[in-house]
Amino acid sequence: MISERLMKALNDQVNYEFYSSYSYLAMAAYAEAEDLNGFANFFRVQAQEELFHAMKFYDYINQMDGRVILQQIDKPQIEFDSVLHLFEAGYEHEKTVTQRIYNLTDIATEEREHATISLLKWFIDEQVEEESSFKSIITKLKRSESNPAALYMLDDELATRTFTPPVDAQA
Ligand code: FEO
Repeated sequence: MISERLMKALNDQVNYEFYSSYSYLAMAAYAEAEDLNGFANFFRVQAQEELFHAMKFYDYINQMDGRVILQQIDKPQIEFDSVLHLFEAGYEHEKTVTQRIYNLTDIATEEREHATISLLKWFIDEQVEEESSFKSIITKLKRSESNPAALYMLDDELATRTFTPPVDAQA
């Protein structure tokens, strides 16, 4: 039986994952308006991944006989200075998500809630990938700062990203 405290924290994370999705959609909209369709595609896929994360927590709460309580989703940041700024904001966002997952893991560990720890292990691994993906694009963007051709090449590269639900996707 999951405690009220842990259930509330899991529900808060459902909300935060939806907020993450909304934030990345706002970033996609910025890139779309700048006619950078590859970057926009990257963030659209990222927004889909975050919906997947939200639903993974949603399904888990139901599996554990809890109740999903949906809350208001905060307004995302909509103004950015540049594509680099988009990715820096995304990277900062992912670092916050990682911290939240660690905090959830601390609560689950304290309460010896092993099934939840197992779920959160998936998210811990996922966060390593999420942070790494943002970091590597930031590095490429910094290298291409005075080279518009390189920026468009990266835009083309990111146009190919697609959303594929992980094979171990069961919540
Ligand atoms: Fe759901 Fe990007 O973390």
